[in-house]
Amino acid sequence: MSPYDSDPTDRLRADPVLAAAADGEDLAVDAALRPKLLDEFIGQERVREQLSVVLQAARKRGSTPDHVLLSGPPGLGKTTLSMIIAAELNAPIRITSGPAIQHAGDLAAILSSLTEGEVLFLDEIHRMSRPAEEMLYMAMEDFRVDVIVGKGPGATAIPLELPPFTLVGATTRAGLLPPPLRDRFGFTGHMEFYAPAELELVVHRSAALLDVEIDPVGAAEIAGRSRGTPRIANRLLRRVRDYAQVRHDGVITKEIAAQALRVYEVDERGLDRLDRAVLTALLKLFGGGPVGLSTLAVAVGEEAETVEEVAEPFLVREGLLARTPRGRIATAAAWRHLGLVPPV
Ligand SMILES: Nc1ncnc2c1ncn2[C@@H]1O[C@H](COP(=O)(O)OP(=O)(O)OP(=O)(O)O)[C@@H](O)[C@H]1O
Ligand SMILES: [Mg+2]
Repeated sequence: MSPYDSDPTDRLRADPVLAAAADGEDLAVDAALRPKLLDEFIGQERVREQLSVVLQAARKRGSTPDHVLLSGPPGLGKTTLSMIIAAELNAPIRITSGPAIQHAGDLAAILSSLTEGEVLFLDEIHRMSRPAEEMLYMAMEDFRVDVIVGKGPGATAIPLELPPFTLVGATTRAGLLPPPLRDRFGFTGHMEFYAPAELELVVHRSAALLDVEIDPVGAAEIAGRSRGTPRIANRLLRRVRDYAQVRHDGVITKEIAAQALRVYEVDERGLDRLDRAVLTALLKLFGGGPVGLSTLAVAVGEEAETVEEVAEPFLVREGLLARTPRGRIATAAAWRHLGLVPPV
């Protein structure tokens, strides 16, 4: 079983439009579209400015920078930024993730093989095991780990010095990090959703890299449906490019973007099939609510976690759905969005 099996956001990855890696080609393209340096990174002004000071200061001192924590929703550029950090420091990067570290020994093996100045990227750091977390505290603070040799009463701890390294942790759930771990990061960057104008820049940049011709209104059309998320903007761009190439002459205009996204069931506001199914059930079957999460999930034939973690955050953010102690309710905007009349 893969450590990701129980993660409801897998649904997002499995969705043909939104998936992180729909196929091999998409995977390769994803890597090709990642900005490599801080200057190429669009948006996130605050994090970018803060980070650039941290990195420049470290370079000037000729030492490793403080450990960095990047937090924020999926697809906003945490992995991209971690690679940029290594590139800006001219340092090698080692990539691993919380779920891949089951035992403290796994972490000890990684830490003890780091070279001086290396960047260790720990994705989904909130999903690391407790014993590994405790080992990490010491490694972050003192650049030291205790390797336990043997079992039971005869076990001994052998201290091991580590070369100075920079930990870059990424998490979509900063709230789940134990405070002692959170406090050991010298810098935390909170990633925000992107403004439509920033996503337009992302779309133009990616289109140029993919060698696709797109007009500014076409880019705005895609950006407007991308839920403030560059990963989704890139994905929608690729699907629209396919459509433009198969059904038209390959040039992306507003009209072609709109047609293509209708085919992929992404509406003007960026709602996909699941989002619309949830809203439709809430409105048509339950009169707008309140209705319990599990009932709503059964009505759309999905797991409760999928509805809660994949569909709802965006619906809540858009002001279409509210979570109340009595259950989920639709807002007046939800009725309007689906072209229905709210009950009086
Ligand atoms: N600021 C940006 N400018 C241009 N492209 C970006 C930017 N941020 C992210 N992207 C693009 O979006 C894609 C997703 O970014 P990334 O993988 O870094 O997100 P993430 O925050 O690590 O997501 P997850 O939480 O799912 O791991 C990347 O392939 C990259 O091309
Ligand atoms: Mg990532």
